[in-house]
Amino acid sequence: MTFVRVCPAEDVQVDTPHRVEIDGRPIAVVRDSAGQVFAIGDTCTHGDISLSEGFVEDDTLECWAHGSKFSLRTGWPLTLPAYEPVPVYGIKVEDGDIYIDPTPTFEEKN
Ligand code: FES
Repeated sequence: MTFVRVCPAEDVQVDTPHRVEIDGRPIAVVRDSAGQVFAIGDTCTHGDISLSEGFVEDDTLECWAHGSKFSLRTGWPLTLPAYEPVPVYGIKVEDGDIYIDPTPTFEEKN
């Protein structure tokens, strides 16, 4: 697992999604109101929409196009119309920067 520096931690404000790319792959980085940071695939699985343009609510990121809410923890949509998950990425904050493990994982639905 090799983490890649993607941005300064201060670029990711609470409840304001921040889009980064690793090797051309878009990733949404989100800091929730509790201060925890998450990284999930940025492209909605229902359409070619950037989830970073959506809305954070608790530990979900909502696609602005049709309202599917994706879990920041598992990547699974909790509401239709999307029904397939986005990938989840390992993330850490170190020395004021955010690092992401570029190897995506897909969580089991629970
Ligand atoms: S494009 Fe995201 S819910 Fe339709």
